[in-house]
Amino acid sequence: MNPADGLRLRSWQDELMAVIDALGRPLGDLRISVTDRCNFRCVYCMPKEVFGRDYEFLDRAELLTFEEIERVARIFVALGVSKIRLTGGEPLVRRDIERLIEMLAAIDGLDLALTTNGSMLATRARGLGEAGLRRVTVSLDSLDDDVFKAMNDVDFPVGRVLGGIEAAAVAGLGPVKINMVLKRGLNENSILPMARYFHGTGHIVRFIEYMDVGSTNGWRLDDIVPAREVVATIDAEMPLEPVDPNYRGEVANRYRYKDGGGEIGVIASVTQPFCANCTRARISAEGKLYTCLFATRGHDLRELVRGGAPDHEIADVIASLWKVREDRYSEIRSSETAGLEKIEMSYIGG
Ligand code: GTP
Ligand code: 5AD
Ligand code: SF4
Ligand code: SF4
Repeated sequence: MNPADGLRLRSWQDELMAVIDALGRPLGDLRISVTDRCNFRCVYCMPKEVFGRDYEFLDRAELLTFEEIERVARIFVALGVSKIRLTGGEPLVRRDIERLIEMLAAIDGLDLALTTNGSMLATRARGLGEAGLRRVTVSLDSLDDDVFKAMNDVDFPVGRVLGGIEAAAVAGLGPVKINMVLKRGLNENSILPMARYFHGTGHIVRFIEYMDVGSTNGWRLDDIVPAREVVATIDAEMPLEPVDPNYRGEVANRYRYKDGGGEIGVIASVTQPFCANCTRARISAEGKLYTCLFATRGHDLRELVRGGAPDHEIADVIASLWKVREDRYSEIRSSETAGLEKIEMSYIGG
């Protein structure tokens, strides 16, 4: 950025009022998908029948470059974003992602995190830490190899993800949050082993209700394991008590073990939606802005970025879109919304 741009930036930033949507929710978090590709084919996210050999992923030229991502990120921060999470697909398959992390970690006062399937963490955690990452969330759906392999559908063993979690802790990226998506009939027997394994480690397992994101995973309401059931199952063996949220609008409901063994979370987006406090914007790897995980259309920011629009103009577009936002999909999930052509999870990043 040249100095004149800096001056202009400060002046439009000075004029900014908090950007609040039509339902009173500020713009607070940004989730940036850096690739739509993944080395797993989780049955609830990228079923092989759809994401096979012929599936057309985005071309490299379509992806926002790291410089473009950094620029957009800084504009979002000026608009009030204080937390950025990198997602995918699998963010670690994007080549040289450490360089992007270094660029984003240099933004003052920003909480920077990344959600990964953990398959590459054993070798990459140290470099990620050195690049300035402070937190990772690792997806892991079972500790049973057969169950996990049936869910990731690429024969990936549990042990390598556990090794990745360890490496992350050693690299200063802990305590690690572990995301376990529950699908009825597949992995509910893994709830207790998972809770027991991480009890006392300082890591936090979050049990997630399977969501109807996208249009390819064949979601049915009967497939979910309600959060209430998860809490009751664990509480019966290792007593729990609720804990206040870390911040307004936190996605997970927190519980701690009464014996001091740490905490768990449940993400009940189906049975207890949290849209009322949702402050999250999302950008796809090709630079489309979505104001809800379940949006059907995004707004092309890449066109603006590549078309030479100055920062204040891009900021205006983002702020205008946010101000009219009325999304609350999980609260109104119904027969009316069931047939919508929703964006795939691997594209929008969860
Ligand atoms: P922290 O609060 O920093 O721990 O992050 P997070 O829980 O928001 O992020 P993570 O990527 O770990 O997502 C956990 C689960 O919550 C995933 O299944 C996401 O798809 C889901 N999730 C995250 N944000 C939203 C949201 O805005 N709406 C809905 N419905 N689900 C969400
Ligand atoms: N429902 C709930 N969570 C999902 N994830 C992927 N697909 C779904 C779904 N359909 C989770 C991943 C990852 C996080 C970003 O979202 O397991 O942990
Ligand atoms: Fe890949 Fe994550 Fe989707 Fe699984 S849930 S296919 S690891 S992006
Ligand atoms: Fe936010 Fe949409 Fe999720 Fe509701 S469904 S919490 S509005 S992203």
